[in-house]
Amino acid sequence: MSSPFVPPRQEFPLLSNREQIAYLDNAATTQKPKVVLDALANFYSNHNANVHRSAHAISDEATKLFEDARQHVSEFLGARTREEVIWTRGTTESINLVAQSFAPKVLSKDSTIVISVMEHHSNIVPWQLACERTGARLRAVRVTPSGCLDLDHYRELLRENVRIVALGHVSNALGTVNPIEEIVEMAHYAGARVLLDGAQAAAHVPIDVSSIDCDFYAFSGHKAYGPTGIGVLYGKLDLLESMPPWQGGGEMIEHVTVKKSIFQPPPFRFEAGTPDISGPVGLQAALSFLSSCVENGLYEYENSLLQYATSSLKQIEGLRIVGEAAQKSPIVSFLVEGTHPNDLATMLDQQHVAIRAGHHCTIPLMEHFGIPGTIRASFGLYNLTSEVDRLVEAIHVGSRILKG
Ligand code: ALA
Repeated sequence: MSSPFVPPRQEFPLLSNREQIAYLDNAATTQKPKVVLDALANFYSNHNANVHRSAHAISDEATKLFEDARQHVSEFLGARTREEVIWTRGTTESINLVAQSFAPKVLSKDSTIVISVMEHHSNIVPWQLACERTGARLRAVRVTPSGCLDLDHYRELLRENVRIVALGHVSNALGTVNPIEEIVEMAHYAGARVLLDGAQAAAHVPIDVSSIDCDFYAFSGHKAYGPTGIGVLYGKLDLLESMPPWQGGGEMIEHVTVKKSIFQPPPFRFEAGTPDISGPVGLQAALSFLSSCVENGLYEYENSLLQYATSSLKQIEGLRIVGEAAQKSPIVSFLVEGTHPNDLATMLDQQHVAIRAGHHCTIPLMEHFGIPGTIRASFGLYNLTSEVDRLVEAIHVGSRILKG
């Protein structure tokens, strides 16, 4: 490994408090650096008040922090303006917002939504519900044996009066980084709008929504070293302006009479009720931290960790990696002959190696490969090659026990 990046493990209290554990479950959620914990404590200790409502100084401070965070996220994503950034609870809620507010405007009985076989359930189920409501069809792009989108199949599906394409930027189960610029260009040429699920992308690959030219982009704070419960939906402003609210309540209105309401422009139209206020503040701290790691060579480091893990795991007899795309984020999914993923996961846990096992909320993908699930090791900015070595050793020990 030749990357100059030095994993800043000392910044993560959990890693020193639980130093026995090799935490290799970052695709599920990441640990939080001190700057995030401090930002949350500082907010509640010094600036806690409701936003956009009250007539006092603390509320002004809270509102400023909340809106500064929106500006920060808009710059992180490469959006044109902060009005294109809506706060949600996470990627799942962001996708549901689009499926409920935007989809009915463009779907009818003769139209199609295209997803793929490798989607997380959160990028499948909201579209099934949208199809039930509108009569539209749902079609899924096939996946190649190495775990890539079959772009020839995608091209074929785009002939079916497609109005919406909803695809993952990075696969949570395989790590595949999809060719999103090409995907978006093809969809737009066919007259479809594109939502990208960036849940697994934000912490690992560069994002610039303006150059990608996607119509919507969703991600979650907690997978990018931020707090749980805060997420983002980016949408092109003209589309957001054309969309009706999806939840009603305080803050999203300009005026209310008993008979009728006039709604605020985006983003507030989509943020009914008191929002998560500390979440954006914590997310801003997380993304600043992440960006400084990226400047110091994080992507190159994670890629070398991925290569090291892939080649180390491949030396284990009977181990099969599922998902070997040329472009991958630091995720390795695998099976070991003669062991069930859940049993082996228990063995790894007993040796203090934290991974995820199972279908990873991607049952159609597992069925496509004809497997019950996988073991998934997913790396983050604090992981070390010595933790990969611990994983490999724990697999040897665990599979020896399981195979008797
Ligand atoms: N979507 C998260 C994962 O892949 C929870 O583990």
